[in-house]
Amino acid sequence: MFHKNLDSFPKDFLWGASSAAYQIEGAPTEDGKGKSIWDVYSHEKGNTYHGTNGDIAVDHYHRYKEDVALMKKMGLKAYRFSVSWSRVLPKGEGEVNPKGLQFYRDLIDELKKAGIEPVLTMYHWDLPLTLQEKYHGWESTKTIAAFTNYAKLLFKEFGTKVKFWVTINEQNVFTSMGYRWGTHPPKKHDFKLMLQVNHHINLANAAAIKLFHQMVPDGMIGPSFGYGPTYAKTSDPEDVLASINANDFNNNWWLDVYCTGKYPYFCKKQFEKLDIMPKVTKEQQAILEDPEAHPDFLGINYYHGGTFQQNRIQKVVNSGKQEQFDKTDPYLMQPQQGQANEPEVPMFNNVENSYVKKTQWGWEKDPTGLRITLRLVYEKYQLPIMITENGLGALDKVENGKINDSYRISYLADHITAMQQAITDGVEIIGYCAWSFTDLLSWLNGYSKRYGFVYVDQNNHENGSLKRIPKRSYFWYAKVIKTNGADLGNEE
Ligand code: BG6
Repeated sequence: MFHKNLDSFPKDFLWGASSAAYQIEGAPTEDGKGKSIWDVYSHEKGNTYHGTNGDIAVDHYHRYKEDVALMKKMGLKAYRFSVSWSRVLPKGEGEVNPKGLQFYRDLIDELKKAGIEPVLTMYHWDLPLTLQEKYHGWESTKTIAAFTNYAKLLFKEFGTKVKFWVTINEQNVFTSMGYRWGTHPPKKHDFKLMLQVNHHINLANAAAIKLFHQMVPDGMIGPSFGYGPTYAKTSDPEDVLASINANDFNNNWWLDVYCTGKYPYFCKKQFEKLDIMPKVTKEQQAILEDPEAHPDFLGINYYHGGTFQQNRIQKVVNSGKQEQFDKTDPYLMQPQQGQANEPEVPMFNNVENSYVKKTQWGWEKDPTGLRITLRLVYEKYQLPIMITENGLGALDKVENGKINDSYRISYLADHITAMQQAITDGVEIIGYCAWSFTDLLSWLNGYSKRYGFVYVDQNNHENGSLKRIPKRSYFWYAKVIKTNGADLGNEE
């Protein structure tokens, strides 16, 4: 579609920014918090860059007031954060930790006082350790019940204060990293098990949404999905078919289940033939297909897409293990969504795209891919969309006490323009939460790879002063918010 002029952003558009508990809070055992799988995994040798972990992170647990004050000064309309499950339920189930609940109550109150809409993510990867030890985490259906009870607690506590809820963050990413590529806990390489675990999480997501609709009738809930559009390498019909296969597995495999309760037909057939399709009982199918268990909006996390060619067998590329990190090279890579392709699943191969530039970490910069994403998702599911993550990971430098991250401004401006084009095309978008508000711990890249509007003096030895310094992008985004997206200019 071509437009002479772009539509304005909706009047109440939620200009926001995001974070996740493990990446910012620190205080891993303070005030009765139980450990999560990440508290252990990041301390095992070789799992993360230079052994970086979230023990201190950016100390948001102690500095949340200062952070919210910075949000207020910026004019932020929405803030997406996650609750650490083991902070409120130290063992994942059973006894509640009142101090943990109090922390989130205080945070939400502080946000509301500042006129900022809280967007609460219930699960951003930090599964309570006890559930992993007792049940093997998501491998067991017992964790579905634990998650549903955790959801009940959160809805009861915060249902009247928080309107926007995200159930699960990037289910496609953490199941792949944890069970396929072995780069997140529990570090397994078992595709069949990944599909089974994923099925359990689908059921947990559906159960939580259904409960939400009973307990918080005025709220809106949905998962945040890490979407990547799938391009064909050439117009060779075989490559086009490969890109369709990739779309079926990389995107539809999750979104179709969330929104319709049905696994995509062809992919399912393929997995049945390979004997790796999880067993779906009649009762489970009914849970997934129940309209009350379907989302009210879709959270879309967008960083980049992927390009595909016909299904030649390809080895797993870059398992993201510590040994592969070149310590002298700050431009670290980590496996990307859809990058690996095991020989036993010969549906497509992921290849380079020569049309797009890359970030310092090798992630494609593709704003048009965001417009494509929004169009495809809206056309298929007809649900309002909130962009729950989008941002640029870069090495930021402090010079004379300032951070001139004009490259981040350009990146965000290009993506916001693509989003505005999608709005003009007719996509219903309710908000945009950039990743991230402050700098934070990158799961596998420590504190080198920064995303924030606010610089935090933290480093890979974890002995920074934790001082906050607004970057140039902070002031730019304040202007974007003030003009409701009308002024995206990058001038000094
Ligand atoms: C998303 C996650 O996948 O990507 C975030 O939801 C994460 O938690 C972000 O930080 C960026 O990833 P990375 O590896 O660059 O920090």
